[in-house]
Amino acid sequence: MKIERYEEIFLGLSAVVLILFLNALLYAGLAMNLRVPGVAGMIDPAKVRETPPFDHPGLHQIAPGKYQAVIIGKAWSFTPKTIEIPAGSEVTFLATSVDIDHGFYVDGTRINLMLVPGQISRTTYRFDKPGTHLLLCHEYCGLGHQFMYGKIVVNKTVVK
Ligand code: CUA
Repeated sequence: MKIERYEEIFLGLSAVVLILFLNALLYAGLAMNLRVPGVAGMIDPAKVRETPPFDHPGLHQIAPGKYQAVIIGKAWSFTPKTIEIPAGSEVTFLATSVDIDHGFYVDGTRINLMLVPGQISRTTYRFDKPGTHLLLCHEYCGLGHQFMYGKIVVNKTVVK
């Protein structure tokens, strides 16, 4: 079988691109330790409000400059709606849904989770710059989807 010269070049370039992408994937996963935000645990969606830590939704300081934000998503709101932290804080978000799938996207950060009933989603992020970030549900969840938002206010006061 004769392979045309241009076809050969094209096949060669395709192989190079595939190898580059495979290497990028391995580098991100192994060297940079990047992970897709995973499931941090399971929870009975009907008993979220009586199950720790979701029996006390809100912001909890766990160490100097470190917080845990426990957030419940339901159609069509987040509880709590607003979180306020000093600049430089590291926040671990623990969130779940009591009804249907919702999104959990914090504008201007890499926080991008799904809130699935029955699952606890977790991610950690450090808010270095003062400012306000919108928290949005970015998974269409029905009639009130566009009203499902909150905000994260990062104050100028430095962490203590
Ligand atoms: Cu919740 Cu869209």
